[in-house]
Amino acid sequence: MASTSRIKMGLGHLLIVTLTLLCTGLQAVTALEWGYWGKYGPKSWPEMCTTGKKQSPIDIVTEDAIRIDLGALNFDRYDFAFSGTLTNNGHTIQVKLHGIPIHLSGGNLSSAYILEQIHFHWSAEHTVDGSRNPLELHLVHYDNQYANFSEAAQHEKGVVVVAVLFEFNSYDNPDLMPILETTKMVSNWVGKNMAPIRTKLIPLLLLPKDHTTYYQYEGSLTTPGCQESVMWFVMTEKLPISEAQVNVFKHIQSYNGTLKYNYRPIQELGNRKVYHRLDGYNSASSLYSSIICTVVNVLLVSLLRKNF
Ligand SMILES: *[C@@H]1O[C@H](CO)[C@@H](O)[C@H](O)[C@H]1NC(C)=O
Ligand SMILES: *[C@@H]1O[C@H](CO)[C@@H](O)[C@H](O)[C@H]1NC(C)=O
Ligand SMILES: *[C@@H]1O[C@H](CO)[C@@H](O)[C@H](O)[C@H]1NC(C)=O
Ligand SMILES: [Zn+2]
Repeated sequence: MASTSRIKMGLGHLLIVTLTLLCTGLQAVTALEWGYWGKYGPKSWPEMCTTGKKQSPIDIVTEDAIRIDLGALNFDRYDFAFSGTLTNNGHTIQVKLHGIPIHLSGGNLSSAYILEQIHFHWSAEHTVDGSRNPLELHLVHYDNQYANFSEAAQHEKGVVVVAVLFEFNSYDNPDLMPILETTKMVSNWVGKNMAPIRTKLIPLLLLPKDHTTYYQYEGSLTTPGCQESVMWFVMTEKLPISEAQVNVFKHIQSYNGTLKYNYRPIQELGNRKVYHRLDGYNSASSLYSSIICTVVNVLLVSLLRKNF
């Protein structure tokens, strides 16, 4: 009896969090009190959002990025098929996967991070050399040494977001179809309601084929309260999306009319550094180390596969 009610309380808590916080924002900011334009737009977001010095998103200036081998990211269980649910929380479309935890490690991270949720921004939040893509996917993870996402977000490097940029293509991206199909169903359905995604999702398909190269910097959540606890990994390679598919997102209803866009403006880089993980083609010495990395990765992947 006691444990059942504890589980119920836990679920209720989770529901409230899903409801009131976006992208993964925290604190007493409710879904109705902030938006992407007008009186409640980004300029009037509270606290850290306006006072912070390590805010996100940023413009990635590719020429200024420091080329360094931070190591490959290990996407553990990303290749499994998961059932999931989808919510239109009024600020984004958020996907939660169910079942065993999915882990991210490597890339100079000192621990393993658990995948918490996946959501979208249209247009993209990060720009590359000043140019903005139509869509950006955020895979939000938290350090497994913390009890939950909310607690991790209060600590330096407590959160890791992997960002994937999408560029226009004349064909539909088939890997987005299960999510888009459910998105259409919930586009007028703002709030806590979760819709099941009909087919299973393989998160690996939401990453570019080459996930060995990325930009990395330290920043913040891009929604209130903008906590500066995020290690950002923006994948270098982009995925395709058709105009019709982007339009599905642009027709989502918020609490206050159509959510035509949901990206936060670019923030100052300040004295932060942006790293570009080597793809192996920048210099002879990097090519050599990249070959070693690739061999090690292939070995690791085959070892992992054997274990399952
Ligand atoms: C890699 O991680 C170590 C240990 O956390 C840290 O001291 C170092 O600054 C990191 N390197 C980069 C380039 O972020
Ligand atoms: C997260 O963990 C902290 C510390 O254990 C706890 O106080 C808090 O209620 C938890 N939050 C959620 C949403 O479960
Ligand atoms: C909702 O829209 C109205 C009219 O455009 C605007 O005055 C109001 O500030 C908006 N509210 C929010 C929370 O964005
Ligand atoms: Zn986001």
